[in-house]
Amino acid sequence: MRGADVPAVATLHRAAFAMPWSERVWRHEVRAPSSRVWVAVRPSDTGGEAIVGVVVLWLLPPPEAEIATLAVHPEHRRQGIGRALLRQALTYACAQGPVQRVFLEVRADNASAQALYRAFGFAVVGRRRHYYFTPQGRVDALIMRRECGLRSPLP
Ligand SMILES: CC(C)(COP(=O)(O)OP(=O)(O)OC[C@H]1O[C@@H](n2cnc3c(N)ncnc32)[C@H](O)[C@@H]1OP(=O)(O)O)[C@@H](O)C(=O)NCCC(=O)NCCS
Repeated sequence: MRGADVPAVATLHRAAFAMPWSERVWRHEVRAPSSRVWVAVRPSDTGGEAIVGVVVLWLLPPPEAEIATLAVHPEHRRQGIGRALLRQALTYACAQGPVQRVFLEVRADNASAQALYRAFGFAVVGRRRHYYFTPQGRVDALIMRRECGLRSPLP
């Protein structure tokens, strides 16, 4: 992701989340030394490129890293883009010597994201009750973890 991508990424994130990150947050993420951000692009109707997905990896104090957000535009889902972004972030994280495990948080009612994460070897290691505020009420967060040393190949 480049600085020029901020408006498009913020728009994409708004399409994917009820409580999206603001442009200010995205401007910070692009520059933050401990953040790595990748976008997925597709050829656009106007001949350029459209951003259709984004993933943010935080390199936390070793030995941990965190997938901070992952989103694919609703019109481009179930085409392997989320899988490709997650594979990129995990491969990068685990190639950093000090990183041994990667965490993430996911809504307890988000079955599609959980299916994706389980396919990558993430397992639930904790639950934060009533963590998310949603229009439907409060929803728990599941904390998932994947060890870099896991031997099964990434999908
Ligand atoms: C979760 C999300 C990123 C998945 O992106 P995607 O590009 O559609 O995912 P992929 O096409 O790469 O799917 C990979 C695998 O994830 C699982 N999966 C993805 N969407 C699914 C769904 N709606 N139902 C069940 N499983 C699903 C499947 O195992 C799928 O493999 P398959 O298509 O071979 O069955 C996307 O749905 C999204 O942006 N959701 C809103 C934001 C969000 O919830 N982000 C995660 C927050 S923690």
